[in-house]
Amino acid sequence: MIQFLLNDTPIEVEKCSPSLTILDWLRTNKGKVGSKEGCATGDCGACTVLVGEEIVNPQGVHSWHYKTMNSCLLLLGNAHAKHIVTVEGVTPSLYPTLNELHPVQRALVECHGSQCGFCTPGIIMSLLALYINNPTYPGKSAVIHALGGNLCRCTGYSPILLAAEQAYSYPRSSENYSALATQFKASISCEQNQVPFLTNEQRTFYLPQTAAQLVALKSSHLNAHLVTGGTDFAIELSQNLLLPDTIISLSQTHELMQLKDNEGELNIGASLPYSQFVSQFCHYYPEAKELFERLGSTQVRNGGSLGGSLGNASPIGDPAPLLIALNATMDLLSARGTRTINVADFFLDYRKTVLKEDEVISNITIPKRSKSLKLACHKISKRFEDDISTVCLVLAIEHNDNTITHARCAMGGMAATPKNAPHIEQQLVGLPLSVASFKEAAKHVNSDFSPMSDVRASAEYRINVTKNLLHRVGIEFCHSELKNPDNLIAITRISHASL
Ligand SMILES: Cc1cc2nc3c(=O)[nH]c(=O)nc-3n(C[C@H](O)[C@H](O)[C@H](O)COP(=O)(O)OP(=O)(O)OC[C@H]3O[C@@H](n4cnc5c(N)ncnc54)[C@H](O)[C@@H]3O)c2cc1C
Ligand code: FES
Ligand code: FES
Repeated sequence: MIQFLLNDTPIEVEKCSPSLTILDWLRTNKGKVGSKEGCATGDCGACTVLVGEEIVNPQGVHSWHYKTMNSCLLLLGNAHAKHIVTVEGVTPSLYPTLNELHPVQRALVECHGSQCGFCTPGIIMSLLALYINNPTYPGKSAVIHALGGNLCRCTGYSPILLAAEQAYSYPRSSENYSALATQFKASISCEQNQVPFLTNEQRTFYLPQTAAQLVALKSSHLNAHLVTGGTDFAIELSQNLLLPDTIISLSQTHELMQLKDNEGELNIGASLPYSQFVSQFCHYYPEAKELFERLGSTQVRNGGSLGGSLGNASPIGDPAPLLIALNATMDLLSARGTRTINVADFFLDYRKTVLKEDEVISNITIPKRSKSLKLACHKISKRFEDDISTVCLVLAIEHNDNTITHARCAMGGMAATPKNAPHIEQQLVGLPLSVASFKEAAKHVNSDFSPMSDVRASAEYRINVTKNLLHRVGIEFCHSELKNPDNLIAITRISHASL
């Protein structure tokens, strides 16, 4: 059985399709049709709900944190022990007056932030999360990030951005979500020794809470499909009509949810959502901030994990080039024990990896930076926000005086797997730290990659943009005063022109 709190109502479900999403369950089983289905692939945000989770800080203090997720990607089973708040739960009465509306709803009305209204429930939920998590207006840039996964096709964003600010001008609303959730959690805590599950007799979903439960389940269900945040997996269900007999969710396996800042390395549990480790990661590698900020949307980053990205083995997943360039390792866990491999050695061919059928990815270890390390991360995509990479380049070098001593270059979108660039790396080592060295290395792109043409870009474009990026990285590394984005735009134009 799984148990969660829906708005103010405790829910228990046992007999149910294991591949049902929260969105389908809400709309078909509960008649709650406020959350809309625009795309069913995580792209439009019309289905956004709040997901409350209990957080225990290092001092042992419990609190509830509320974040947005796409309910079209969130499996019902993954809601266990959580608080799901839908748009129906924002205002208690069904036909509220303007004064009874929540401040974010009232502001959206008063700023004319809704026309057809299809996107509006999702926008309300994203603005609500922002409101709950920020006692004062956090600024336009925070609002833009919060709405990065909410598509509005007819109103235009100006009134919506205005509404986000105006919501703070009304008397502050005090939600009682945490109090409700604490009460609910106390009522289910005694069930923790059992593996929560859902079944419809033929097919079953398991939610192991410990690594011991997880490896025992995986070794007795070798064909089971794994899921963590579901931001890739749920699309397999909705678009490719995958119907697995057994699903094992790693999204609440305690040992896979840890973030350890050890001496010399950062250990990130494979199931930890991006939003829970990115700030620590970027504390050591601030150059990666934009790459993570542009990975999907806030909703996607609140669910997606490194384990899911690597396990999905997509050639255009953004974390893999970063992890390969930083020489990261990953732990593969099974009932037989744990083996550790380099992330670079994980991928065999298109969506083929060295992962054995009884194994799961449990942990990723990133060495902390050396003093002379320089890092550059570049993602080229058709849209800036919420878009998959056409090409992703990550280059890490170390240097002694003015000579490059180590180079690790890894790319996504240039081959059947994310992979490193041995010719470019060899070329750079021993050369002076100068723009000319990177231009020279760019001549070796064709030796490392023969990309394909697809809907995102032609092979020729991919090769040319990689050469330009290497030139740009050379300028970034050698002229730190040119970090100013305006200067870099000018440089990109120059490097395009030089081709
Ligand atoms: C709208 C949208 C935008 C996106 N944008 C980007 C983007 O810009 N950049 C990007 O890189 N990705 C993007 N993604 C893809 C996705 O969000 C990431 O790949 C994410 O990291 C997947 O993590 P997850 O936990 O949701 O994986 P899941 O969907 O749960 O799992 C993905 C796959 O990995 C397997 N798996 C999961 N966990 C493990 C594990 N611990 N061990 C072994 N196998 C495992 C599953 O069996 C499944 O096959 C986007 C997705 C969506 C829906
Ligand atoms: S329906 Fe579009 S993001 Fe869920
Ligand atoms: S109001 Fe119509 S899509 Fe946003």
